[in-house]
Amino acid sequence: MDDWKTRTKLIHSGIRRSQYGEVAEAIFMTQGFVYDSAEQAEARFLEAGTDEFIYARYGNPTVRMFEDRIAALEGAEDAFATASGMAAVNGALTSMLKAGDHVVSSRALFGSCLYILENVLSRFGVEVTFVDGTDLAAWKAAIRKETKAVFFETMSNPTLEVVDLPAVAKLAHRVGATVIVDNVFATPIFSRALEQGADVVVYSATKHIDGQGRALGGVILGTKAFIRETVEPYLKHTGASMSPFTAWVLLKGLETLDLRVRAQAATAQAMAEALQWDTRLERVIYPGLEQHPQHVLSTEMLDGPGTVLSLDIKGGQEAAFRFLNALKIMIISNNLGDAKSIVTHPATTTHQRLPDDQKAELGITPGLVRISLGIEDTADLIADVKQALDRI
Ligand SMILES: Cc1ncc(COP(=O)(O)O)c(C=O)c1O
Repeated sequence: MDDWKTRTKLIHSGIRRSQYGEVAEAIFMTQGFVYDSAEQAEARFLEAGTDEFIYARYGNPTVRMFEDRIAALEGAEDAFATASGMAAVNGALTSMLKAGDHVVSSRALFGSCLYILENVLSRFGVEVTFVDGTDLAAWKAAIRKETKAVFFETMSNPTLEVVDLPAVAKLAHRVGATVIVDNVFATPIFSRALEQGADVVVYSATKHIDGQGRALGGVILGTKAFIRETVEPYLKHTGASMSPFTAWVLLKGLETLDLRVRAQAATAQAMAEALQWDTRLERVIYPGLEQHPQHVLSTEMLDGPGTVLSLDIKGGQEAAFRFLNALKIMIISNNLGDAKSIVTHPATTTHQRLPDDQKAELGITPGLVRISLGIEDTADLIADVKQALDRI
């Protein structure tokens, strides 16, 4: 099974068949499990075997199938599935940190990640230093001997900055800090984060893994010791476990993940190339373009430049809104990684609450729009964007 290529793993890894030999994974829609005897219950509470379950907050066969399949894909020893991507980010950080610890984080973060680092951890006595994630000297200066963890999005939302994961991991490991990455934008298909030095990888499964706008979910991947001794006790007692139905939806999502992500990235590349010299745009931001500041790093570090691109439209918010409202195929929403192409205006939605100076610092200008490419026809999508630009 270890020799299987990605697409084979995504279909077959982690399968657990019941006595009926079903083809599609079964949904074990049960919160609890029956014991044959009081002695068996006692033994299971003492130590549950790999195929033995106690209570769905602790684990469930459908959820376990999802955890095993994504762990196989990522090359991780183990995984813990969570109720949302944010439960995964929070679980990974909070389960391992305590008062007095120090964390270094990149500043270019999704708003809710920033909230955990800025507002939650500080209330429990964890000090966080924010750095420009693309500046290795800043990472070096900020990481010190009390640093217990470093955190960053390998590719940031929505300005698609790429952090040099191998280099930051080297700096962190010198002081024994744990490297935790939110890998949503890099995707599990294009990133080899664990191989490159991450200790813990977190995904919002709501994005590409579901990929069809149905479920909220998340997952934390790492060593067996980290997942079972640090993450599991925290999450199973605090309650942010994944539901069996969600796990089933996500298992079906995983089956087509590679096909969808590659199709989405091919469209993103074609669209970025078609628009890069358009005079109505201040900038086209996509790591697959040579003009992207981390193009070389992205090419070395990732097997593909991702499924999202951002356009900075001349004329600010007014022009950006006219563009959004003129689109005929792309929908205005705030998820990403979906089969449907989705367009977002970060300054007034996902990043609305950031003060203007922070928006400016992060490059979230009034004219910035984020496009998450779907799996519709590439030419139709490019035509849709061009006709909407014409109508600004
Ligand atoms: C980079 C990043 N991390 C985490 C999340 C949170 O995921 P969820 O909405 O599944 O909680 C999101 C998306 O909303 C995201 O874009």
